[in-house]
Formats: sequence, structure tokens, C-alpha cells
Amino acid sequence: MKKLLTDLDFEVRILGEDETVKSFDCGDDDLNDFILHTAPLYKSEMLAETFIVEDNQGKVLAYFSLATDKITLSEFEGKTEFNRFRRKHFPNEKRLKAYPAVKICRFAVDLSARQYHLGSTLLQYIKWKIWTEVELGCRYITVDAYLVAIPFYEKNDFKILTASDAEDRHTRLLFFDMKQFKRAIKNE
Ligand SMILES: CC(C)(COP(=O)(O)OP(=O)(O)OC[C@H]1O[C@@H](n2cnc3c(N)ncnc32)[C@H](O)[C@@H]1OP(=O)(O)O)[C@@H](O)C(=O)NCCC(=O)NCCS
Repeated sequence: MKKLLTDLDFEVRILGEDETVKSFDCGDDDLNDFILHTAPLYKSEMLAETFIVEDNQGKVLAYFSLATDKITLSEFEGKTEFNRFRRKHFPNEKRLKAYPAVKICRFAVDLSARQYHLGSTLLQYIKWKIWTEVELGCRYITVDAYLVAIPFYEKNDFKILTASDAEDRHTRLLFFDMKQFKRAIKNE
């Protein structure tokens, strides 16, 4: 049975430059390896910032890493699909060549914390963080989602961007429109 998140006391903070995480297991070797070994390099090279989620004993329950991104023509099958996307989202005068985004580069919840809906809570936290703290234009959140994780992102209002990666056997590019979040906040 799913437990209430209030059962879980946690805190989110940025991973330090020389900090290593000693133990983490989300069931995926690549994602484990990233937080156990590679995240500090991404930080020092300014490629991605990693956030860790800890319980009150300092155990890492989850992590995610973020970097800047953009949605451009190159993501789509061709000009027709890109134009369809632009027409759906923007008035005529805002048909740009690229639209600003933040990418979720890595995202994982430890197996021990799966029953708390922590993943969804953290996606909501990321949306809120972008809305309140990123003082730059940022219209979208993007993620190259593992195929198995697509239902999770869709439940959190992410959508498949393009048909161009439909044959990909590992990931698909999904996006969340921050305008949807803005509308929800304003109507609260
Ligand atoms: C994907 C992941 C981050 C989701 O975190 P979580 O805390 O388990 O997610 P939530 O409990 O908030 O899930 C929300 C909904 O998505 C569903 N969901 C979560 N993971 C799913 C999956 N792999 N396949 C299908 N549905 C999934 C849940 O069943 C839940 O549905 P419900 O609301 O009907 O109960 C986590 O399962 C994980 O770390 N998986 C391994 C690594 C991974 O795949 N990362 C994503 C890389 S793109």
C-alpha cells in the first residue's frame, strides 16, 4: 500500500563539489553509477547540477540532476512537425527557432523509498523550483525518459514531444509545458 509522504521526512540539497554518495540503489546500474561516481565531475565541469534527497539520518532516498536545454527543429521529424508544435503552443509572432528549457538529465528514487510517491513529489518540486527560482525564460522541462518510466512522467503531465524517436529502444524525449504550471498556480 502507498504510504503518505508525510510518513517520510526528507530534505533536498545540492551535492557538494567533492562530495561522494556512499550508497544508493534504484535498480538501474547506470543511474546508480552516476550518483555514486560521476555526478561530481558533471558538477566541476558545469554540465549538470545534482540534487540529493536525504532522510533525517542522511540516507540518500533519491536524486535528480538538471541542466539547461532547448527545444529546436532538430528534435522533430521535420519542419512540418516542428511547425505543428509551434502553432499549438505559440501565437504567430512568437515562432522562434529555439525555445528555452531545463533538462532533467538523471532522475532516480532508491528502492527503499518507492512506496511514498516520492518521484511525483520531486517532479512537482522541480516545477516549483523552476517557477520560483530560475529568473530566466524557461518554457519547458525536458527529459529523455527510459521507456519503462514513460507512464510515470505521463502521470505527471509530461508529453511525448515527437514521433522521430518512436523506434528508439531505450528512451523517448518528453516535455512538460511550464505554462500549464503557471496557469495552475494562478488559478489556485
Ligand atoms: C521512475 C521513478 C523515478 C518513479 O519514482 P516513484 O517514487 O516510484 O514514482 P511515483 O510513486 O510518484 O509514481 C507515480 C505513478 O507512476 C507510476 N510509475 C512509477 N514508476 C513506473 C514505472 N517504471 N512504470 C510504470 N508506472 C510507473 C506509479 O505506479 C504511480 O502510479 P499511481 O499514481 O497510479 O500509483 C522510480 O521508479 C525510479 O527511480 N525508477 C528507476 C530509475 C528510473 O527509471 N528513472 C527514470 C529515468 S528517466
